[in-house]
Amino acid sequence: MIERPRRLRATPAMRRLVAETRLHPADLILPMFVREGATEPVPISSMPGVVQHTLDSLRRAIAQAADAGIGGIMLFGVPEHKDATGSGATDPQGILNVATRAAVAEAGDALVVQTDLCLDEFTDHGHCGVLDAQGRVDNDASLERYRDMGVAQAEAGSQLLGLSGMMDGQVAAVRDALDSTGHTGTPILGYAAKYASAFYGPFREAVQSSLEGDRRTYQLDPANRREGVREIDLDVAEGADVVMVKPAMSYLDVLADAAAASPVPVWAYQVSGEYAMIEAAAANGWIDRRRAIEESVVGVRRAGADAVLTYWAVELARWLR
Ligand code: PBG
Repeated sequence: MIERPRRLRATPAMRRLVAETRLHPADLILPMFVREGATEPVPISSMPGVVQHTLDSLRRAIAQAADAGIGGIMLFGVPEHKDATGSGATDPQGILNVATRAAVAEAGDALVVQTDLCLDEFTDHGHCGVLDAQGRVDNDASLERYRDMGVAQAEAGSQLLGLSGMMDGQVAAVRDALDSTGHTGTPILGYAAKYASAFYGPFREAVQSSLEGDRRTYQLDPANRREGVREIDLDVAEGADVVMVKPAMSYLDVLADAAAASPVPVWAYQVSGEYAMIEAAAANGWIDRRRAIEESVVGVRRAGADAVLTYWAVELARWLR
């Protein structure tokens, strides 16, 4: 026998030396929720350990995230009042824009403050865009809202706009709006390959979504791999600075394709349901929590993600130190 792969697995030092994929705190991004009017952080029951922050607890959590050395945060707003057009999204005093200003002030140069650019947290019907007279999500009318939302977020100081609404042409529309208002330096993260996934379930609780029905007329069909690459190509052509594949664990093939095809960084979002599954199994003693978390994130990196959005970002970063 000439080939004996076990030689390189014999000791921890050897395994470490030959590891093909490494996790680093700088490649981790923490999604965070901020709730308007909250006086205490509110736990999210389907995401044990994750809360809806107050502005104060957000600041403290950002200081901890900076201390842990993670690369960035992604902010989501939970407004007190929702309406048909999601007007809170474009209001400079809306919770997400207020939180962005607070976050940027707290973070300084330590990490990149990013914002979710989508209407679903702000609309009373819970869709990612505005509706037409027949109650269908109106692509081009939604783009007008995204343009205004992009400018509002750039003016609040967001350092990367995360376009997660899955409207056709959204990257080009927001790029144009930013450029024509002097925000040529504000980069765009295109949620290019975002699938209509059951794994967003706990997120709906996190943002108190009122959605009835589903998002299948705008998010991708889980059955489609080639279409994921098409969406990546379109977002790059429209000027995306970074592209995303989401969710992560059930879409590692799409992620590998995207990593091969994309000239810009490719990130992946380990979503709320992926988090909840591992937490629930670990709480029952069915899996080793730390090993499962590390393995799940290393798998996403190995498949091709340059960085990973994960609710474990800070805890994982501390383990890596
Ligand atoms: C839409 C958005 C969603 C998530 C992030 N951005 C929900 C959806 O599209 O249904 C889900 C994130 C998660 O599940 O962790 N603004």
